[in-house]
Amino acid sequence: MKRLTYISSFSRSLSKREIEAIGHISQTNNSREGITGVLLSCNSIFFQILEGDEDCIDRLYEKILRDDRHNGILCLKSEQNVSTRKFPDWSMEVIVLDENNDILLQPIKILLQTLGESQTILASYTQSGVLQAIENGINPLTLKPRYSEKIILFADIISFSSITEKLQVAEVVELLNQFFTICTNAIASKGGEVTKFIGDCVMAYFEGDRANEAVQASLEILSELEILRSHSPAHSPLCVLYTGIGISKGIVLEGNIGSQTKKEYTVIGDAVNVASRLEAITRKLNRFLVFSADVRLGLSDRWKPVRLGDFHTKGRDEIVEVYSIDDFLTFQKSDFRKLKQEIRQHLDLISCQ
Ligand SMILES: Cc1cc2nc3c(=O)[nH]c(=O)nc-3n(C[C@H](O)[C@H](O)[C@H](O)COP(=O)(O)O)c2cc1C
Repeated sequence: MKRLTYISSFSRSLSKREIEAIGHISQTNNSREGITGVLLSCNSIFFQILEGDEDCIDRLYEKILRDDRHNGILCLKSEQNVSTRKFPDWSMEVIVLDENNDILLQPIKILLQTLGESQTILASYTQSGVLQAIENGINPLTLKPRYSEKIILFADIISFSSITEKLQVAEVVELLNQFFTICTNAIASKGGEVTKFIGDCVMAYFEGDRANEAVQASLEILSELEILRSHSPAHSPLCVLYTGIGISKGIVLEGNIGSQTKKEYTVIGDAVNVASRLEAITRKLNRFLVFSADVRLGLSDRWKPVRLGDFHTKGRDEIVEVYSIDDFLTFQKSDFRKLKQEIRQHLDLISCQ
């Protein structure tokens, strides 16, 4: 048998009647499937324990994950090979703690609320793939490192040092947040995974056969930045928010890397270095997006890749064949030296005001 314990937040305000309705359907379905458990509700938080046959629990949990009455679902514990049930007589006992003022229940209410709050905080610091593993009842710490083929994407802000030099801290944070939000949304919508933010740089990866999606995400980032620049007030630093994007492909080591106390689930390997170097040479090539020949090979015919030449990248002996896409978004500024000057002048102007 399997026992699953999770916590989630109401996605909207739910009346007692609506919560009871969840209880009714649960009791009917669970009795049929031999599932037992308990559902606590308190301060807009659900806490549920489900126990039963492994396949039945997995099927039900998939359904529960899709239920739009709650979100921020975090699996706290997934126990396999459970021999005895903790709630053999409850096909699903619903307990609404809010309406019970028993002093003995106060600590449990506080505990649930604290758990809900820390879950929300932790979720914003944790990368989505790790959260998803937890959501699916997998302890990410048990995932073994493995080699896999990935497409690596690096995007960073052009002239970020000038930006930090000229702007107030709050303005830099606002600009970074806008940039990271655009990148994260574009990458996630195309199935990629942002693994970390390094200063002003976003590092992300896609599965090895997702070259089209990586390029699509990159063009979406460039297009969203274009919209942001043109819609921002004339005195805003967002008017000069540009990025360079480098994409490479290769076999990388994927897994938990770090110390006993701090780990990250990330990828390491030559392809990561190449993507980072490619991103750096966007400045030299006057292109906002460049990628390696391996990435180009995985692209479908609808793109118009242009070969920019063979280049040495910093710290590597091997030459990299570099491509871009024949799209206005990738070459809208033909001289990055001038672009950097433009950025500096704009920052000078607004920092004097
Ligand atoms: C917090 C929460 C807990 C739920 N628990 C159960 C449950 O234990 N059993 C169940 O059948 N449905 C449960 N549901 C409802 C399911 O998501 C789904 O709406 C329901 O099973 C109806 O599915 P059906 O139309 O296939 O019968 C729960 C929903 C929520 C929001």
